[in-house]
Amino acid sequence: MRIAVAGGTGQAGAQAVAVAKERGHDVVVLARSTGVDLVAGTGVAHALEGVDAIVDATGVQGKVDPTGFHKAVTASLTGAGATAGVRHLVVLSIVGCDRAASFALYGGKLAQEHATAAGGIPFTIARTTQFHEFARQAWKFAAFGPLHAAPRGRTQPVAVREVGARLVDLAEREPIGGRAPDFGGPREETFVDMVRGYRDAAGLRGPVIPVSLPGELGRAQRDGSLLPGADAELGVQTFAEWLTALRP
Ligand SMILES: NC(=O)c1ccc[n+]([C@@H]2O[C@H](COP(=O)([O-])OP(=O)(O)OC[C@H]3O[C@@H](n4cnc5c(N)ncnc54)[C@H](OP(=O)(O)O)[C@@H]3O)[C@@H](O)[C@H]2O)c1
Repeated sequence: MRIAVAGGTGQAGAQAVAVAKERGHDVVVLARSTGVDLVAGTGVAHALEGVDAIVDATGVQGKVDPTGFHKAVTASLTGAGATAGVRHLVVLSIVGCDRAASFALYGGKLAQEHATAAGGIPFTIARTTQFHEFARQAWKFAAFGPLHAAPRGRTQPVAVREVGARLVDLAEREPIGGRAPDFGGPREETFVDMVRGYRDAAGLRGPVIPVSLPGELGRAQRDGSLLPGADAELGVQTFAEWLTALRP
């Protein structure tokens, strides 16, 4: 198959690209760094020529409104995709995004899901939990001098390599026309233990302070709303195994 991976240079997209190539698919990467701007809509029509399926693993970067970003990206993919005769659009989304949609990032993912459903190309929504790499991102981006904040809450993190394989699995199948079962990791963790585990495994120092985030997102993190559903399909690599691979 010819598969286009939008966001194919990102954390999840790069893994989907690697898996698709290993399986012998012909892969096209859609990203600004490969000459395709999906917000502006430039380069996309040419890049989608002959494509059977698109995987959308784009993510908003910097201070950009997530809803505007994902609506624009989806409009580019569905518009040019329909013209090119694309038969399947697989969209990477987040488990529980509808339960904390007042949080801008999750509201953007929900808007992306709705725009995909209205976009006219047969589709599958692939919701996954946080990647193990969340621990590294939280360590870096929630630092206040020597202190590192981590939200109180429950998660079931998944290996990003397995997310990449999941996206390609779904692209190879018939479109669901809705959501695939949630995809998460094999074990429940707390965000706080993940960030502390990352600090220790990476040989870093500094206190990790648990913080109860306010509002809908904080509640959803604490009450388990962001855990995969009862019919979820689960990956194999645990967070502890991911940490082991980090240790020198
Ligand atoms: N991180 C998690 O734990 C997690 C869990 C579940 C779902 N998700 C969702 O999965 C998606 C991917 O996450 P990620 O962490 O893999 O993202 P990421 O590493 O930040 O990658 C984002 C990708 O989007 C591309 N991109 C950004 N703006 C673009 C534009 N205007 N035109 C074309 N491409 C553009 C980037 O490439 P260029 O910079 O080259 O354009 C890059 O390839 C996100 O929507 C995220 O919400 C994330």
